[in-house]
Amino acid sequence: MRIQNKVAIVSGSGSGIGKETALRFAREGAKVLCMDIKGQEDTVRQIVSENGKAIAFEGDVTNSSDWKKAVQLVLEEYGTIDILANIAGVVSRGSDKLLEQTEEEWHHVIDIDLKGTFLGMKSVMPEMVKNKKGKIVNVASLAAHIGLTNLVAYSAAKGGVAAMTRQVAMEYAADNIQVNAVSPGIIQTPILGDTTPEMTEIFSAATPAGRLGKPEEIANLILFFASEEADFVTGQIWKVDGGWGSQ
Ligand SMILES: NC(=O)c1ccc[n+]([C@@H]2O[C@H](COP(=O)([O-])OP(=O)(O)OC[C@H]3O[C@@H](n4cnc5c(N)ncnc54)[C@H](O)[C@@H]3O)[C@@H](O)[C@H]2O)c1
Repeated sequence: MRIQNKVAIVSGSGSGIGKETALRFAREGAKVLCMDIKGQEDTVRQIVSENGKAIAFEGDVTNSSDWKKAVQLVLEEYGTIDILANIAGVVSRGSDKLLEQTEEEWHHVIDIDLKGTFLGMKSVMPEMVKNKKGKIVNVASLAAHIGLTNLVAYSAAKGGVAAMTRQVAMEYAADNIQVNAVSPGIIQTPILGDTTPEMTEIFSAATPAGRLGKPEEIANLILFFASEEADFVTGQIWKVDGGWGSQ
């Protein structure tokens, strides 16, 4: 019960890392608002079936009025906000190579991955500043740290998430609000889409640990950042990547 009775908003909680984080938060005693454009009801059903506390909210992270509604709802239901986990994210729907990327798709990726993270932080911050306490955990990516390929918009967005995390951490450190980010390596979630067994082999071989990560392994670090164990940790961007980014 590492975050007992804490109130958390988890974006992207309908699938993958966000879902695993919402489940873990609830198992550790938190009350969770599960925000996503799909899948959030199933996550809430699973939490409730385990006797946890959660509410679902269908909301788009690129829309500031959806964030406003999420904050209103969580305050009405649970009275405060202690934790925001900004996890919703996408990769490009087509090629993300410089010469093949389109302006429209660039905006799609930047809007969800970068602006969505910005809006989330901006929306919860007034309540956290009022309380003089809060935890924000963003999700960047290995692509924010090292050169890969076919990730021009995605790496720009995630590099922005990492930079923004440090900035906001400095701005609100004196208000006792900690802002950190996790940078996953290759994690087995639906975002990998139709990854073929050959691609899985290539990713596994490129990872010093010799395998893909599991969403629970990202949720572990998100939970640590969200807990009081991390009260003196802020502005950090930590990789959870089986060693890939340290080669
Ligand atoms: N899986 C990996 O290998 C990996 C690696 C590095 C970073 N990440 C990051 O981890 C985070 C979670 O990804 P995942 O792997 O669990 O993928 P996922 O596809 O399983 O989950 C992403 C979730 O975000 C939601 N989402 C997308 N657009 C949204 C919007 N506009 N508003 C609200 N919700 C929206 C989706 O509906 C989905 O439920 C993302 O930010 C992703 O970039 C993943």
